[in-house]
Amino acid sequence: MRSLFRISFVLVIALSTVSCMDKSKPNYRFMADTDMYQSVAYETYGEYEIFENGQQAKLPAPGSIPRGWKPYEYEDTNEGRAAAKAELTNPLPYTEENLNQGKRVYTIYCAVCHGDKGDGQGILVQREKILGIPSYDDVGRAITEGSVYHVIYYGLNAMGSYAHQTTEEERWQITHYVMSLKDELEGNPERPFETGDQIQGGTANGGTTADASNNAR
Ligand code: HEC
Repeated sequence: MRSLFRISFVLVIALSTVSCMDKSKPNYRFMADTDMYQSVAYETYGEYEIFENGQQAKLPAPGSIPRGWKPYEYEDTNEGRAAAKAELTNPLPYTEENLNQGKRVYTIYCAVCHGDKGDGQGILVQREKILGIPSYDDVGRAITEGSVYHVIYYGLNAMGSYAHQTTEEERWQITHYVMSLKDELEGNPERPFETGDQIQGGTANGGTTADASNNAR
């Protein structure tokens, strides 16, 4: 009899607890109003006195660079261009794939002025919208891999920079293609594509394909 009483007592308690629970409302909180429930967070672009300039969004530390982005060492000056022209070489192997990718991007960005053949006779020149586009075999300019890359990166006078439209890898692919157009204009024999073994060697010496393709835009 006593145990029956006990069981029914427990049942009543349990039932009343369950029946009072309203799932549509937040339950009771223990330790309410502590930082453990509601952290003291600042709005990303909020103004707060405790920060320098009252600004919660901080600038990156001086000298920091985005992940995957490699700084380009040469400056946008005549000396920088001369140095790039003399020293800088293409880290990408001369493969059919790199050349084709270069052609693809060249056709999008460069051909309107420089022409499909690189002879300076793009559609804008034919329609007399722009003047003074050099041919890639211009003897006075004697372009090199380094100078081509530099000019794509910074632009030159009337030619704008293509650094924002292209990745580092694409710029080097375009450079391969521009140099192949130059060879064609000069009537030089076609440059043979590099094979697997040569690519391995090239990778160890210079920058690597993998490095370049890691680069963000
Ligand atoms: C709006 C037209 C235009 C477009 C598009 C353009 N260029 Fe040029 N490019 C020029 C002009 C103009 C010059 C001559 C600049 C000068 O010497 O003052 C030039 C010069 C060059 C030179 C010679 C630089 C030197 O060292 O003398 C190269 C190489 C070159 N461009 C490559 C490219 C490549 C690669 C692209 C595409 C990514 C491109 N250009 C897109 C107008 C253009």
